[in-house]
Amino acid sequence: MPLADAFVRSGKVRDLYRVGDDRLLLVASDRLSAFDVVLPTPIPDKGRVLTALSLWWFDQLADLVPHHVISATDVPAEFAGRAIRCRRLQMLPVEWIARGYLTGSGLAEYRREGTICGLPLPAGLQDGSRLEEPIFTPTSKAPLGEHDEFITFAEVEKTVGPDDAAHVRDLTLAVYGRGAQIAAERGLIVADTKLEFGRAADGTLMLGDEVLTPDSSRFWPADSWQPGGPNYSFDKQFVRDWALGTGWDKQEPAPEVPEEVVEVTRARYFDVYERLTGTPFPA
Ligand SMILES: Nc1ncnc2c1ncn2[C@@H]1O[C@H](COP(=O)(O)OP(=O)(O)OP(=O)(O)O)[C@@H](O)[C@H]1O
Ligand SMILES: [Mg+2]
Repeated sequence: MPLADAFVRSGKVRDLYRVGDDRLLLVASDRLSAFDVVLPTPIPDKGRVLTALSLWWFDQLADLVPHHVISATDVPAEFAGRAIRCRRLQMLPVEWIARGYLTGSGLAEYRREGTICGLPLPAGLQDGSRLEEPIFTPTSKAPLGEHDEFITFAEVEKTVGPDDAAHVRDLTLAVYGRGAQIAAERGLIVADTKLEFGRAADGTLMLGDEVLTPDSSRFWPADSWQPGGPNYSFDKQFVRDWALGTGWDKQEPAPEVPEEVVEVTRARYFDVYERLTGTPFPA
């Protein structure tokens, strides 16, 4: 069957194709989204970096949690390097987020409510403050064009059932903990990370999508980190800050990204890959 006939749908960054009953081809494009809007300008090689970095992390995490990858080489030549063949999962409709530091939407929620997901936090925290211990801060998975919202653990229980809620929350914190520890050994802080989990045809819960990439996580250099921020970031925060600086209102359409901003963003994605894996990109 030609691949065009197998097309399922596109997310903001990835295109999904069905390849067999319970298999997918997950193809990472060079698209970049900010505040849930896809920017009109691609970042060259971003799809390849995200794919390579996720594969590296899935390996580092394999003893903690099963993952969806079947093969990164058995993919059509046109997608080589930025596609994986994976198990098709029934995704749990929650964004599984862990934070060790306070910034971004978590900071905004804390400033508004003094809590995140109903969890009270101490007073006086600033942008970039380290939390006493990492916290689980799930959000809903909003339909296209809408923003994800923080939800309480009770709402997660209602959505996926109490057993999966507790199990996947623990997995989320375990993955964050392992990721933060490995990154720390390489001089990097993982401020927060978003995971996606789903159930395979045989019922196994698995880590899906991408993991601990600069699209799904915030990475800061440990030696220059300071609460009160802003902190230098290896992730797409650089583009978010640039986009907001243009006066953009976070609604469609997003502004065209100038060449120099594309280049800096691309270099930061390469840089975080190299620091984490110890291998230059492309290998
Ligand atoms: N193994 C899998 N089986 C089924 N769906 C998956 C699997 N891995 C990832 N996905 C889904 O594929 C999509 C990946 O595309 P992408 O990362 O571009 O999405 P997104 O824009 O972040 O989110 P959305 O699709 O919700 O808009 C996500 O919807 C994700 O939940
Ligand atoms: Mg995604």
